Amino acid sequence: MVGRIPRSFIDELINRIDIVDLIDSYVSLRKTGRNYKACCPFHTEKTPSFTVSPDKQFYYCFGCGAHGSAIGFMMDYAHLNFVEAVHELASRAGLEVVYEQGSAPTPIAAFDDLYEIMEQAAQYYRQQLRQSPAAIDYLKKRGLTGVIARDFGLGYAPAEWDNLLKTLGTDSDRRNRLLKTGLVKQNESGRRYDCFRDRIMFPIWDQRKRVIAFGGRKLSESEYEPKYLNSPETPLFQKNKTLYGWHLACQTRSLKNLIVVEGYMDVVALAQYGISNAVATLGTATTDKHLNRLFRRVAKIIFCFDGDSAGKKAAWRALETALPLLQRGREIHFVFLPQGSDPDSFVRQNDTSGFNAYLAKAIPLSDFLFNHLKQEVNLNSPEGRASLVDKAIPVLKQLLPGTYRELMLKKLSELSGANLNELKNKPISKGDTFKRLGVPNSIGDLSLEHRAIIYLLHKPTLSEKLNASTRQKLSQLNQQDIKLLLKIIELTRGNPQLNLGRICEKMRGTEYEHIIKWLSGTPIETNINIDDEFFGAINRLYKNQRKAFLTQKITHLTADEKQELQSFYSVSDK
Ligand code: UTP
Ligand code: MN
Repeated sequence: MVGRIPRSFIDELINRIDIVDLIDSYVSLRKTGRNYKACCPFHTEKTPSFTVSPDKQFYYCFGCGAHGSAIGFMMDYAHLNFVEAVHELASRAGLEVVYEQGSAPTPIAAFDDLYEIMEQAAQYYRQQLRQSPAAIDYLKKRGLTGVIARDFGLGYAPAEWDNLLKTLGTDSDRRNRLLKTGLVKQNESGRRYDCFRDRIMFPIWDQRKRVIAFGGRKLSESEYEPKYLNSPETPLFQKNKTLYGWHLACQTRSLKNLIVVEGYMDVVALAQYGISNAVATLGTATTDKHLNRLFRRVAKIIFCFDGDSAGKKAAWRALETALPLLQRGREIHFVFLPQGSDPDSFVRQNDTSGFNAYLAKAIPLSDFLFNHLKQEVNLNSPEGRASLVDKAIPVLKQLLPGTYRELMLKKLSELSGANLNELKNKPISKGDTFKRLGVPNSIGDLSLEHRAIIYLLHKPTLSEKLNASTRQKLSQLNQQDIKLLLKIIELTRGNPQLNLGRICEKMRGTEYEHIIKWLSGTPIETNINIDDEFFGAINRLYKNQRKAFLTQKITHLTADEKQELQSFYSVSDK
């Protein structure tokens, strides 16, 4: 169990750190008006759209939507987890991190222990590889050179049940660490054994080249064993944000794009042929976390999938995940290899030039999207064209409002013959706004309570102007996120020193963390009267509620009563 750091400490820490100083030590900031600006460290750009607000203790990039508090900056910029980021900031501020009573006091040290044993395991596997002719033979047969095996730190886990356990698990603390990293498992009767046996071992490195997990490919042809085995999720390893080959790809000079492939062997083979900008997901679909990480590094991502139906399916899923993240300047392409090939076999057969030539055929996301949908309908019939619209609208509305979305809708209008304005006004099916988590919205797209929350986040003192009766009335509303609005009101009342950065930190770890992260990333225009907007939203919340109430009551009236009501209204309207 990781020790809890009390909220009061986080509060104190955030109070002591100035986000401008902090960020300025990594990215040189220039003062413009009240705020500071720089070229965004999270995406490539020529003109600065990254702003840091000393008042709000918050950063925001108008180009890519990156945003957060000081702690958030450390996590995203330096790829630290929360506890690591707190430690880093505390040492800057000259504070000793405090843990809640009774909880483990040193999670950082505990993690260090885990990294240490992972590194020792990697060394052990490498050494075992040198001693295993069968494993060396296998790698040779697959065409790997000694150099590439070394660059990727490949190793071999011997076939016995407890080789690693015996070698590294020399005391009970070390045995526990092996368990925690998933390198050793325990069965129901308490017996411990190595997770990876008779497998080629691929260490998975993080940004800082620390071993955080392993992938292991079986050597035997046994059908009972899965071909690849990955480390389980641990404090060091989260599959949904890890990319195999990331560390090496990032070392590529003048990296222009990144290629996403499916397998370990694909990354290794491509690197051997000089294509060192490939990364692989680890047996999972591409997540928004993967994509955000990739887009922070490059503006263009190329998905390289197999040409079979599984490859197409994986590509479509990647497309759906990517749509809400597509902002100006970001590009996604797809390339499908011939049936039966994967990048590994393709590059070995066709050499670097052959692979690059094939890669040049990659199609833009828009082509893939429409080709895919067109295959599912018959465009020669009105029914088919209508069905194309039904299928495309929910997909296209995932795109951020803007030129790209407009162009895509225009294309849909051309293909289907449907009127462009009608397409634009077709409502997005309700719900699932969370698909857009982490990207800037347009505030106009949001519900009233969400808008009210955003204004409050930017100007917390607004809550002082809400009297008791207004707050009481608010609490009777039943819109989805009224509870959150009330919570932010309670939090900010009597706390005039709170700012956006501190509110975000207060919400971290609560059920509201994600929604606050999302709402705080919605840009607001600077030329609005924030008080008017806020009270306007609050008033409309009541009005809508009153209307809903009346509509509901009216449905229960008899025809005569309705008539009577109507006459009453027509008089009073005059
Ligand atoms: P593939 O089955 O396409 O294997 O799995 P591959 O990459 O071509 O491997 P080789 O060439 O036969 O050695 C692609 C990826 O899916 C995950 C692994 O991450 C693998 O690299 N996978 C596959 C698993 O996690 N488990 C499996 O049993 C199979
Ligand atoms: Mn393969």
